[in-house]
Amino acid sequence: MKSLKPVIALLLALSLSLVLFGCAGKQTEEETTAPVSEETETEPAPAYDYLVLVNKQNKLPDNWEDVVQLEDSVNRYGETYQVEKTALAAFYELQKDLLDNDGIIIELDSTYRSVKRQQEIWDEFEAERGLEYAQKYVAVPGYSEHHTGLAIDICIEKDGVRIDDNDDMIAEKEIFAKIHAKLADHGFILRYLEGKDDITGYAYEPWHFRYVGVDAAKEIAGKGLTLEEYLDAVPESAE
Ligand code: DAL
Ligand code: ZN
Repeated sequence: MKSLKPVIALLLALSLSLVLFGCAGKQTEEETTAPVSEETETEPAPAYDYLVLVNKQNKLPDNWEDVVQLEDSVNRYGETYQVEKTALAAFYELQKDLLDNDGIIIELDSTYRSVKRQQEIWDEFEAERGLEYAQKYVAVPGYSEHHTGLAIDICIEKDGVRIDDNDDMIAEKEIFAKIHAKLADHGFILRYLEGKDDITGYAYEPWHFRYVGVDAAKEIAGKGLTLEEYLDAVPESAE
């Protein structure tokens, strides 16, 4: 009888190579598919900068409104506002934190503004309060941080009454101190600080918050800086 040894050896070699190549094939497949699935699960970073500087010296970047991702939000008074999506999620957290832990109600009062809307606000303030007041509190159209979608003016509700007038809000020092203490934890800064008008270009606005992200907000607030100081962009007139 002919020996079976060579046949067995051949079969063994074949099975071994199948196992080896099989594994190698599987590994290659995992290596090539893994990054693709990660890519589809991770949202791409927005093509804009949360530290963008828009002030009296710096106009809104040209392509900003083409790329910014705005989302609608309806406030408790049934008014619809648009806010950049990450900033809006952060605002909801701030709002909940204040309500749950301090019993303070804050609401969206003015958020994203088109250049046309900013012109209307400028005209309204100039007509009602005069040019000097408008220059202290309202940006010239094209130069408002509100064009970015990252700025939020709030109003507050106290004893069932909405407070949204500038002077009335400035008078609510105690409530606003509690609100300001929570801003950085949620990625916001108080944009127009008291006594820093020469740097920011505007009078103190306790209601105007700007989203910059948590890390930057903590550093800016911790050091008591304006955004201009943090970005090393203090206007020459204030140096
Ligand atoms: N109130 C701020 C300065 C604006 O109008 O953008
Ligand atoms: Zn504002």
